[in-house]
Amino acid sequence: MQNFELNGMPVALDLPDEMPLLWALRDVAGLTGTKFGCGMALCGACTVHLDGAAVRSCITPLSAVKGKRITTIEAIGETPVGKKVQQAWLAQEVAQCGYCQSGQIMSACALLANTPKPTDAQIDQAMSGNICRCGTYSRIRIAIHNAAGQTSQATKGGQT
Ligand code: FES
Ligand code: FES
Repeated sequence: MQNFELNGMPVALDLPDEMPLLWALRDVAGLTGTKFGCGMALCGACTVHLDGAAVRSCITPLSAVKGKRITTIEAIGETPVGKKVQQAWLAQEVAQCGYCQSGQIMSACALLANTPKPTDAQIDQAMSGNICRCGTYSRIRIAIHNAAGQTSQATKGGQT
């Protein structure tokens, strides 16, 4: 039995220890906001928070989340940081196809929770594992600065 906290609610799932958390989230819990991209910790589409830290749920076995706190994109907007980040994403119109964006937002929120005023270099480092095939990186960086209450040189709709 896998017992952990999922978006603030206790859950008990009768699933194998080795099952990736991503499978449990999407196929069992029905939380499909977290995306499958590569399945090998290479793209970041599956990023969720484990006790507040950004992790790749595609390679995180359920055995590693027992007794832990998991937060997904479905609930991140209920946190103060998550709310600011989602508002900044909307204001900046970050998303293009959108596929990578839940993972991007989860990584951004983990960064801002630990580093409230990140530099460009800190943003680039924290976000380096989140790939965007649409190339929204510059808007992501601006939105993170805006969520942090920092101004940015670039303007809305700037080059991606
Ligand atoms: S699906 Fe997990 S990192 Fe790509
Ligand atoms: S918005 Fe399309 S992959 Fe990132």
